[in-house]
Amino acid sequence: MSTINKNISLVGLGKLGLCTASCMAASGYNVLGFDINKSLISQLKDHVTPYDEKDLETVLEKAGENLTPYYLQFQKAIDETDITFIIVPTPSMESGSFSTKILESVLVELSMHLKNSNKDYHLIVVVSTVSPETIYSRLIPLVESKSGRIFNKNFGMCYNPEFIALGSVIKDFYHPDMVLIGHENESDAIRIKEVYQTVCKNDPVYSLMSINSAEITKISLNAYITMKISFANTLANLCYQVPKSNIDDITTALGADRRVGSRFLKGGAPFGGPCFPRDSRAFSEFARSKQVISYLAEATDQVNKSHSDFILDVISRNMGMGDAVGVLGLSYKHGTPVIEESFSLTLIHALLKSKHSVYVYDKFAMDNARGIFQNTIHYSENIEKCLLKCQMIIITTSDNEFQVLPELLAKSKGKTIIDIWRIFEEDSFDGHTYIGIGS
Ligand SMILES: NC(=O)c1ccc[n+]([C@@H]2O[C@H](COP(=O)([O-])OP(=O)(O)OC[C@H]3O[C@@H](n4cnc5c(N)ncnc54)[C@H](O)[C@@H]3O)[C@@H](O)[C@H]2O)c1
Repeated sequence: MSTINKNISLVGLGKLGLCTASCMAASGYNVLGFDINKSLISQLKDHVTPYDEKDLETVLEKAGENLTPYYLQFQKAIDETDITFIIVPTPSMESGSFSTKILESVLVELSMHLKNSNKDYHLIVVVSTVSPETIYSRLIPLVESKSGRIFNKNFGMCYNPEFIALGSVIKDFYHPDMVLIGHENESDAIRIKEVYQTVCKNDPVYSLMSINSAEITKISLNAYITMKISFANTLANLCYQVPKSNIDDITTALGADRRVGSRFLKGGAPFGGPCFPRDSRAFSEFARSKQVISYLAEATDQVNKSHSDFILDVISRNMGMGDAVGVLGLSYKHGTPVIEESFSLTLIHALLKSKHSVYVYDKFAMDNARGIFQNTIHYSENIEKCLLKCQMIIITTSDNEFQVLPELLAKSKGKTIIDIWRIFEEDSFDGHTYIGIGS
């Protein structure tokens, strides 16, 4: 690992930050992790894995003593390390751009310790998603004013956002397609690159560019992917109207053309989750702030809403008055407990509004759903119990666990199954009505 200082500090041990810290620690770095959540720090000290995230437990175990969690005490970050990654929330504001309130409070705290420190240089790496022009126009001046230090002379700041997906954060962190580093000073960027070269198990593309370009790149990527998803969803809607057409045949053919590519080109549920919708909206908002109308990003948002209306319409046309409905899948995608902006939330609200009894099942997301719907819906402890009283069953995520459905429904008759991801063949259900949306 050459001359690299092996101490790294990282502020914000949340869904992204803890995975990042653990991967770095498991790769030999001595990581000092800081968070404002006392109970999270206690859990980590007691070796309890705080989130359902694939492989996190294993990586935390491997990280062992290399990861030390601290409740705040940011002074240690300045005193004991030369580089601090910040991965705190940047919630979306009504306008669509990202709030930097928490990020700024962390920077003020770090700056105060920097002011009192006699070290020559400290590198701050912003990983949290920010709107373009935030770092140059707000964050660097803030640290300069609070620390009395000069940017690029006594401290550095880079932008190094992640492109990971919940449910595969660890895998994505170890095997990124691309590592994005926005910088003003090449030696800072090289310092970050060295960390990734040590941690990554593949050989990603390193995209080094100005901070402003990196900020635009970050939100452009999700704005582009959501555009692709929305195009496939529009095709699914079309195929639903056209007899003897099939969305999967079409997207498989389109995706085979390398100019298009197959990833995220699959008709299914409207996109949701903590990143896609907000990044796409942030892109539109940023473009508007520059008097550029981003017709594509704006339309993507509208297509997503109208796709949701389209699926709700298919459901209501096929259900009887007062039917009990089973919803299989609550999260915005399978394999994660996260339900933020998931289609299931929209669906359940609509079903409750039209006075249907709702039974739900999801392997990971039941507790989060309870937090929202409380006792207005029925929480089933397994798939079988979810199906029992329902005339209609709606599959909202492409979870492998749902493959047991034909077997579980073999002895009953007359139910309607709506499958948003078409995880079954048309003839999988004897005596029931099966509707795979898009085929
Ligand atoms: N989770 C993802 O899939 C993902 C993907 C790409 C980018 N991001 C970005 O990463 C950032 C963090 O996202 P997340 O999902 O990890 O959020 P999170 O809410 O899961 O975690 C944030 C953590 O920061 C801690 N925190 C809050 N205020 C703090 C403070 N003042 N000092 C110290 N710690 C503090 C919280 O206690 C929490 O543990 C966001 O900007 C998000 O947009 C997240």
